[in-house]
Amino acid sequence: MCVILYSKILFNSFIYLYNYISVCVCVCNIYIMSAIATEGKVITCKAAVQFERKGELQIVDVQVAPPKRLEVRIKIIGSGVCHTDYSEPLYASQQFPVILGHEGGGIVESIGEGVTSVKVGDHVIPLYIPECRNEYENEPNYGFCCYCTKKNFAKTNLCGVIRGPQGKGVMPDGTSRFSTMDGKVVHHFMGCSTFSQYTVCPEISVAVVPKEAPLDKIGLLGCGITTGYGAVMNTIKVEPDTIGAVWGLGGVGLAVIMGLKEAGCRKIVAIDINEAKFPMAKDFGATDFVNPKTVEGGDLGVYLNKLCGGYPGAGPDYTFEAIGNTTTMRQALEYCHKGWGKSCIIGVAPEGKEIATRSFQMVIGKEWHGTAFGGTRGRTQLGGYVQKYLDGKLKVDEFITFTFPLKDINEAFHKLHSGEALRSVILLQDGANM
Ligand SMILES: NC(=O)c1ccc[n+]([C@@H]2O[C@H](COP(=O)([O-])OP(=O)(O)OC[C@H]3O[C@@H](n4cnc5c(N)ncnc54)[C@H](O)[C@@H]3O)[C@@H](O)[C@H]2O)c1
Ligand SMILES: [Zn+2]
Ligand SMILES: [Zn+2]
Repeated sequence: MCVILYSKILFNSFIYLYNYISVCVCVCNIYIMSAIATEGKVITCKAAVQFERKGELQIVDVQVAPPKRLEVRIKIIGSGVCHTDYSEPLYASQQFPVILGHEGGGIVESIGEGVTSVKVGDHVIPLYIPECRNEYENEPNYGFCCYCTKKNFAKTNLCGVIRGPQGKGVMPDGTSRFSTMDGKVVHHFMGCSTFSQYTVCPEISVAVVPKEAPLDKIGLLGCGITTGYGAVMNTIKVEPDTIGAVWGLGGVGLAVIMGLKEAGCRKIVAIDINEAKFPMAKDFGATDFVNPKTVEGGDLGVYLNKLCGGYPGAGPDYTFEAIGNTTTMRQALEYCHKGWGKSCIIGVAPEGKEIATRSFQMVIGKEWHGTAFGGTRGRTQLGGYVQKYLDGKLKVDEFITFTFPLKDINEAFHKLHSGEALRSVILLQDGANM
């Protein structure tokens, strides 16, 4: 009896496993078949296009050309909305019309000639800082990159090989893969343009990530979370048993707190003029909370000095500015510890704004640093960050306040400005019904 029952269970498990594998193979095949159906062809899809410097995004049909040599076409599943999607288009250099978005997750639909590190069906995150590793030195539109030589690889993530065309909103060959239905050029943005159902990126601007991770969420690792976390881990390399402080508790600032906690700080000071941000900062690991507008005695510097020991020169060992305000950048430097304090600028100030301090601040041993994308080398490190998220060691879900279909993308921008949203995720496919 027992033997019969056991064989029955075994048989049922086998059938279940067989069905599961069949479904997986089938889903994979359907994806690859549909990818092949579009390979080499122009895809017409929906995108949020910004036609002018001011004004809302418009959801329109766009044409997305097939990827050229060393390029990858990606079906975007989800994209976060970052402060930079709002601030960067205000810069005089921004070209219009443009498809914004740089925090996306998607699936490779097709690849251009010569692509070897990415294949159809791979799950990927587009990178606004590419990583050429000098593997494309002999390619006409690439060439030598001093930032990616063996000697400098560990010093910086600022691969510069396609910086020029990326800044102009075009691919490395100087042309765009996007156009309106009546054939007008639409520009790329930060090499990513993730507010489109399909986008094209250079191969060097694509990080392959583990397939188990939800693509609607992990796009957030394409900017804000990785920037704050990486500023602590890669740029400043915070040591344990120290005090860290962060100005600004948006997505970037909270990611700093997540890093400071992992690094083993004994005190983590959260600073924001919006006190509604404090409970979240506490959940992420902050230990002390201060609103500079209502701080006791009216002086944030005195408050921080007292909190860190009260003796002359006392202050946080590490400070991070995650607002984009030159006044708070100065505070973050001047209030850090004398002799060894390190201050890191993460926020991007309005175009043309300059920072200032007295030179004596440097004479007494304080260091002023800055970071782009948290010093992260995307193709080398981002897959590992996604794995860390899958292992429950890096927060991502906690950053998502709202999820919107593409048609409601302007609402996501309003939620960013009102301070209600840490991050909003735009669903490009299922939720994109117009
Ligand atoms: N360096 C990089 O690679 C990089 C990457 C991503 C974002 N950024 C920049 O980082 C900054 C933060 O981005 P975010 O998405 O977290 O922004 P956010 O708008 O979500 O958060 C900013 C926070 O700062 C607070 N704040 C505003 N003025 C303040 C003041 N005077 N004192 C204290 N708090 C104040 C706000 O209440 C808010 O909580 C932006 O400037 C963004 O452009 C830089
Ligand atoms: Zn490079
Ligand atoms: Zn960003």
